[in-house]
Amino acid sequence: MNPAPNLILIGPMGAGKTCIGRRLAERFTLDFVDADQAIVDAAGASIATIFEHAGEAGFRQHERDVLHALLDGSGQLVSTGGGAVLDPDNRQAIARRGFVVYLRVSVAAQLERLARDRTRPLLQRPDREQVLQEMAALRDPLYEALADLTLDTDLYTPAEATAQLVLRLATQWQRLDLPHE
Ligand code: S3P
Repeated sequence: MNPAPNLILIGPMGAGKTCIGRRLAERFTLDFVDADQAIVDAAGASIATIFEHAGEAGFRQHERDVLHALLDGSGQLVSTGGGAVLDPDNRQAIARRGFVVYLRVSVAAQLERLARDRTRPLLQRPDREQVLQEMAALRDPLYEALADLTLDTDLYTPAEATAQLVLRLATQWQRLDLPHE
């Protein structure tokens, strides 16, 4: 049992964090918060527009601010953007404020799931496979180091993945409703 006030989903683009997160939040009666959506709401601009005007570095600053504000709360299921783990302060806040679920996905499955995606600025280029492979090489060790629980999503539908996680979380996550220290 690992006590924590929030459930936090980490993992690459296309792992199903938003879709599975919504379902899991309902099952555990948690407030569902999509960090990317919170960034869009706070900035009043789409992720593509933020990247266009402020670059990736500007986006990461928004991401950091929003994530830290969110993680002060409790009783939430927070679905993070795939690159949130790049920042050491984000990693520390995630580890301190949540039971961390890593949704793993292979590059092959990402390519399939994201084939028609036009919303993720980092993927709007012809060499998607290489980009995803480079991201995986850099980020997978970071996801692994943070994870309290890992699920391979390649072979599961969102409903199946949720069912698996409900079973595992029942024995592994101890919900903690204490205020932020
Ligand atoms: C990103 C992932 C996206 C979003 C942004 C950057 C990344 O979130 O935060 O496009 O660096 O992997 P999802 O993982 O929810 O797609």
